Amino acid sequence: MVTDVVILAAGKGTRMHSTLPKTLHSILGKPIIQYVLDSVVSLVDNDPVLVIGYGAEQIRDVLGENLRYVEQNELLGTGHAVKQAGPLLSGADLILVTYGDMPLIRTDTLQELISTQKSNTGPMTLLTVQDNDPRGFGRILRNEEGNIQKIIEETSATADQLKITELNAGMYCFQAEWLWKNLEDLKLSPKGEYYLTDLVGMAVDQRLEIETVSALDPQELIGINTRVHLAEAGKVLRQRINEGWMLAGVSLVDPETVYIEANVKIGPDTVILPNTYLQGESILGNNCQIGPNTKIYNSRIGNSCEIEFSVVEESIIEDGVDVGPFSHLRKGTHLGPGVHIGNFGEIKDSYLGEGTKVGHFTYLGDAQIGKNVNIGAGTITCNYDGKKKHQTVIKDGVFIGSDSMLVAPLVLGENSVTGAGSVVNKDVPPNTVVVGIPARKISKRKKK
Ligand code: UD1
Ligand code: CA
Repeated sequence: MVTDVVILAAGKGTRMHSTLPKTLHSILGKPIIQYVLDSVVSLVDNDPVLVIGYGAEQIRDVLGENLRYVEQNELLGTGHAVKQAGPLLSGADLILVTYGDMPLIRTDTLQELISTQKSNTGPMTLLTVQDNDPRGFGRILRNEEGNIQKIIEETSATADQLKITELNAGMYCFQAEWLWKNLEDLKLSPKGEYYLTDLVGMAVDQRLEIETVSALDPQELIGINTRVHLAEAGKVLRQRINEGWMLAGVSLVDPETVYIEANVKIGPDTVILPNTYLQGESILGNNCQIGPNTKIYNSRIGNSCEIEFSVVEESIIEDGVDVGPFSHLRKGTHLGPGVHIGNFGEIKDSYLGEGTKVGHFTYLGDAQIGKNVNIGAGTITCNYDGKKKHQTVIKDGVFIGSDSMLVAPLVLGENSVTGAGSVVNKDVPPNTVVVGIPARKISKRKKK
């Protein structure tokens, strides 16, 4: 049996008060709609069909071409929206319908909807949920035998019907042939929309079997209509991600305060301390201690690293490095094994070789630094002359005295030394000590 999915996402999301289409708002670095796509991908045989309307161009730009798109130019209701997808789906036996603004739905729940429909002799299975907070959802009307009779939208419900706590989640699995045929017969509602939910009454009139699957967790059906819902859903997704990592061997000392984005990966025995943000495509190794108060964005961190009170962006950090407190590694930073970065260091577009130490108050930009170099407190690579950036090369074993200004372009030879407070504007040969402003050679460096 061929199963296809239609995702409804044409709505404007007026209550978000945003220029961005609702389904492109992000939770933990991933657009809402992407969560929905990820939840269905393993269930269907072909690319999902997305019904779009408002912000269609923006949605296509973000999601790219691994999807099929249908534009619904007039928002004439959920029944009308599904119907637009019909021409693309002539080969399908089963049609799963879900919404682009419900990012919390679980694959297992949708899988159950499909498998229930596979053994249903009738044309549809729908997802319902028991909840005392109806959130505007349609109510499920059943007869004395408990058989479903129809779905009544909140706006047309009587006072008694409003008390019903079994709600229509809005996700369905249909027999395709029956669906396409009966969508043709939907009548316009008093609101001027074609309601997908009217199909229930039609199946009942045809004496056909309707199955329901009950969602165990109402949280799965939080739909995003406002930014309050966005935060609510964000919290649930964050808990799911955090629990997933804890169950995989990562310690989160206070998970309430840790934000791990959807695409981050973390090795076991790593400990994450409070107020930590792990973002983008970051990959962290084993046995690290990260945080407190640390942000890591699109970076690769090796094993056994410690990073506290610091910001790390688009950087590579090899094994056994420690950073912080209060340092900022900017894009293009690459720290070799065992490097030490202490307080108030800023580094960008630089490589630091194994065992190099940067203890205090330092700016390193566009620098290639060898192994076992000691960068004294207050060192600055003066990499910018007002027009262009220049490189500083510091070879293995160099000792940079405190408060040295390294005026690039500049090469400091192996084992050379700069005296405290020197302004180095000329290359320094290997094993040479330079001091002063501008720095001058005073001696050979004594053998260590
Ligand atoms: C619908 C159901 C209701 C259910 C609720 C669950 C109908 C008539 N009612 O309510 O029983 O409890 O979902 O959330 O189906 N959309 C389109 N094109 C349209 C209209 C809607 O693509 O013309 C999309 C929206 O972008 C949204 C989804 O369909 O993603 C649901 O629309 P929404 O207006 O939120 O649902 P309701 O009609 O209120
Ligand atoms: Ca509506």
